[in-house]
This record gives sequence, structure tokens and C-alpha cells, in this order.
Amino acid sequence: MAGQQQDPASAAALSVRGLGKRFGDRVAFQDVTFEIGYGEVFGFLGPNGAGKTTIVRTLGTLIAPTSGSATVAGIPLTPGNGVEIRRRIAVMPESPGLYLRLSVAENLECFADLYGAPDPRERIDRALRAVGLADRAQDACGTLSKGLRQRAALARALLPDPQVLFLDEPTTGLDPSATRDVHDLIDALRQQGVTIFLTTHRLDEAERLCDRVAILNTTLRTIGRPDELRDQLFARTLTVSTLSPLPDPGRVFAGLPAVDGWHAGGPAVYVLTVSDPAVAAPATTRALVAAGADVLSITQSRHSLEDVYLQLVDQDREEEGRR
Ligand SMILES: Nc1ncnc2c1ncn2[C@@H]1O[C@H](COP(=O)(O)OP(=O)(O)O)[C@@H](O)[C@H]1O
Ligand SMILES: [Mg+2]
Repeated sequence: MAGQQQDPASAAALSVRGLGKRFGDRVAFQDVTFEIGYGEVFGFLGPNGAGKTTIVRTLGTLIAPTSGSATVAGIPLTPGNGVEIRRRIAVMPESPGLYLRLSVAENLECFADLYGAPDPRERIDRALRAVGLADRAQDACGTLSKGLRQRAALARALLPDPQVLFLDEPTTGLDPSATRDVHDLIDALRQQGVTIFLTTHRLDEAERLCDRVAILNTTLRTIGRPDELRDQLFARTLTVSTLSPLPDPGRVFAGLPAVDGWHAGGPAVYVLTVSDPAVAAPATTRALVAAGADVLSITQSRHSLEDVYLQLVDQDREEEGRR
């Protein structure tokens, strides 16, 4: 795959500086800055209308930005470089846009013709095998399920052996098993070194697939590894549950290593704010046993990426409300 044939002169598959796009008065996105390394699977999260599709279309050279700059697959994003960039990338749009009356193979042939692929036959076979559609090649696209159609669209995106693959909400509207197929395909592409820029409003998807994620709500709200974002936004906690209420919880929890504070979470439930759960949990257990408490459980809180997302997007809504 071309994923490995990266341009040694540039370290980043995508480099975006202060990028923005407005349509008349309407700002689709603005001040967006980030960098993605080759081989990375990068998730772009955001609510409807956040600007995700517009960013994909901008970086995919379908529309021009109104501010800022970017390099895509090592090439500066300028109107003159469109052809050169499009040779190295592929975009799978939100709606697959296949000719429904043509077969899967015929759709791919049209597309291969369109961009003048060398040895189209072999490429088409390889793309069909990659998405597990070889045995459906002769079926009309209109007769395929939504999940299979999405796979056909992915096969089309793979035809040029892209270095950078943009997937715009690749699983929206798919059932769980079709979704899992697409996830497995994305994993397989990652193994081959393809850089993937994926937009989604599904947090579980981002958490499962992506090395790093960015949360966009017209502007970039945050960027990082899912676990980093969790740690940045949320205090770590341990939740202690005992058979009966502790007579003096303050004395049990006071001065324990790595425990910064506590509050009651229920009649016999205590939520401890901790700096390092690996230090705090054993110390807390010992203190509870020493105090004669019957411990039912001590669990570490796990904030999901969804918590991170809701925290940021809700903050935006509240600020909008105040304006
Ligand atoms: N061609 C267009 N003309 C005018 N406004 C547009 C156009 N495309 C997108 N927008 C606006 O830009 C904003 C971002 O849209 P979009 O990128 O589709 O968001 P998302 O994909 O995150 O749901 C929305 O307010 C949308 O109405
Ligand atoms: Mg969209």
C-alpha cells in the first residue's frame, strides 16, 4: 500500500494551521490547527453542524479554505496543487454516491477510468478483496444492503492506494454488525500504514479506533489521546462502598497517601479524589480494614470519551446561552 511510500521530506501526513472556512457570513469552522503523523488514525468528533464535513471537503481539495494554511500528504494546500494532492489521498463522503444501477465492479471501473489508474483490473480486484466484496462484484449496487454499499464505497476510496484516507462518518446509519465490519476494515488499513482521518459523532467508535481525537465545535475544543483527555478534564476518583456507614469516615480517609479529598456518594458510599489510584487503593483498603469496616467494593472511576465530549460541548452551549 502507498501508506508506506510517504514523502520523507515531510514528517506530517496532515498539517493544518489556523484553517477556516466561511460561507458568506456563516462560519463553518475557524482557527483549526493540528498535525497528524503518517500511519495515525485520527478521529474528528463533533455534533451536527460542527464543521466536520466542511473540513474533510477542504482538506480533500473539493473546496478552498477562506483562511489559514495546510499541507496534505506533504503538499501545500493551494489551488494549483489540487491534482497532486488528490493523487495521494482519497475521500469517502458521507453518502457513498454510487451508481445504483451499475454493478460494484462497474462502479469501480468508472472511477478507475476517471482518474486514469494504471492496471485498473488488478487494483479493482485488490480493493474488492480488501473489503470482502469479491463475491458480490457483479451485483448491482442498488441491490446491496447499506452496509455492503458502504463497503463498496470504501473499495472505491481504496482504488488509488491513498496515503491519507478521509472517512466522513463511515458508520452512520449502519447496524451493529455492518459497523463492526467497517471498524475491522479500518483496523486492517491501519496495519497497512494508511493514515486515516475519520469524522464521527460516535464516541465509542472514536475510542475504539483512534490513536488521537480532536473535538470540534466550529473551533477546535481539544486534541489528544482519549486517556489524556479524560485525565485533563476529570479528577480521578475511587468509589468505596461498605456494608454499613462508617462511624467517622473523615478519620479513615484523612492523611492517606495519594488521597486528596473525599465526599459521601450515598449512605455507605464514599467518593475519594485521588492523584494516583495505584497508591491510593491499597492504602485505602488497609485503612478501612484497620477501622473494622466491611468493604463491599473499591472501584476506580472511568470517564468515557463521551464524558469528555459532553463536558466540552455542553460548556459551549452554556456559553452560547450567556451571550
Ligand atoms: N455549501 C454550504 N453553504 C453554506 N453553508 C454550509 C455549506 N456547507 C456547510 N455549511 C454550513 O457549515 C456548517 C458546518 O457544516 P458541516 O461541515 O456539514 O458540519 P458537520 O459535518 O460537522 O455536521 C453548518 O452550519 C452548515 O450549515
Ligand atoms: Mg457531516
